[in-house]
Formats: sequence, C-alpha cells, structure tokens
Amino acid sequence: MKLEVFMSPRELAPGDVQGRVVAVIDVLRASTTIAVALANGARTVVPVDDVDEVIARAKQFDAGQVRTAGERRMLPIPGFDMGNSPLEFTRSAVSGCTVIITTTNGTRALTALQGARDIVVASYVNHAAASAMLRAAARSNDISIVCAGTEGHFSLEDAACAGRYVRSITQASPSITMNDAARACALIDGRYGDNIAEIFKESSHGRALAEAGFGDDLLACAGLDSHPVVPIYQDRQITRLGPDRER
Ligand code: MLT
Repeated sequence: MKLEVFMSPRELAPGDVQGRVVAVIDVLRASTTIAVALANGARTVVPVDDVDEVIARAKQFDAGQVRTAGERRMLPIPGFDMGNSPLEFTRSAVSGCTVIITTTNGTRALTALQGARDIVVASYVNHAAASAMLRAAARSNDISIVCAGTEGHFSLEDAACAGRYVRSITQASPSITMNDAARACALIDGRYGDNIAEIFKESSHGRALAEAGFGDDLLACAGLDSHPVVPIYQDRQITRLGPDRER
C-alpha cells in the first residue's frame, strides 16, 4: 500500500487520487471550520468555488435551513451569514442547517478532486477520529493526503498536520510505502510535536490571520481532537460519518 502527501493541489496528476482514500487538509481554516460545523450539528456542508455559486445554491433552500459562509482575503464575504472563522459555527448558528461555503484554497482543493474512492476532511480538531478512519483504510487502500496550501504553494501548517496523520497511519501500517513529501511532513510534525500554536506563530498564514485580528481562530484551530468527527465529501457535499452513515 502507498501513502503519498501532495503539498498543494497543483502537484496532483490525474492518477494521484484515482481510486484512493484521500484526506484534504486546510488547517487554517477551512478544514477546521468544516469539522466544527459538522460537530455542531450542521446537516451538511457544501463547498463551492465562487461567491455567485453560493448565492445560487442557497436560493434552493428555505431561508431557515441554509447558511452562506466563506472568505476572501480572510475576511467575511459581504451579505453572507458567516465568514470562515470556526468560532462562528456554533450549535445555535448551524444546527440542522446546510452550510454553503467558499474559501480561497480549502474548498477549491476539495472541489478539484476527481475519482477518489473516499474523501475525508482532516485537521487538528478531528485528528484522532479522521486518522482512525485512515488507518483502517490503509490496510487495503492507497492513501493520498492533499494539503490545500496557499494559492498553489506550500503551507507550513498543512504540512505539519499532514505529518501528524502520516505518523499515525505508519504506526498502524509500518510497511506502507511513502513518498518523500510524506517523510518530510512527518519530520516537520516531529519538530513541533504538540506545540501547534508554535507552528501557527511561524507560518505565513498563521501570522497573517493574527495580524488581521483572528488570533482566537488560531487557538480554535490548534484544539487537538476538540471536534471528533469524520467529515466525508461525496456527491458535492460533506456529511459526518457516523452510525447512520458507515462505510
Ligand atoms: C482558505 O481556504 O484559503 C482558508 O481557509 C483561508 C482562511 O484562513 O480563511
């Protein structure tokens, strides 16, 4: 079995996810926000590429059943119900609702994937839950971990989080074949250990979020296993894997 990490969706060739179980990581902040929304009772999260598509899709729902969400340049989109801060996705804000969301990198990394067997949204807040699913999958499937990165480039926080997943999967499957990026990510994770706040302090996007006034979001995104859900992206929507939706 193979375990490969891709530092940005731009690195992907068509065969890199075909038939595989894929984890998509955008720690700051889209994959964290999606996990928090589902943990707080959102019925489903629909990732889309642009603002107009959010508006068009939202019209298909009764007003009380849908929330429009997302960011551009980290800031909430005018007229939308919420931005991309995980702290906004409280139970009272999203429970029972469909969240339609567009973000700069994270949602685009998801919508660009074609042909994967299963796609899980991974972050620190759902690490134990999502890595349990990936460890089980790695017994009989190749695994690809796709970092959303930043506009096609490497992001330290996504690589470090990918490394945490790599270490978890390889503990259960020591003979799995890794690519060099998977090895590098495991080294980065090992460098920081549980000091996730330090990763965010050193990463460009972490610093940009702090400067833009989103310091509390960084604390939320560093909350290891605070939201133990397994978000699965299938048929253009993300739902929570649970007793009613086993694989
Ligand atoms: C993204 O998708 O690019 C991010 O989630 C940006 C952000 O921090 O809002």
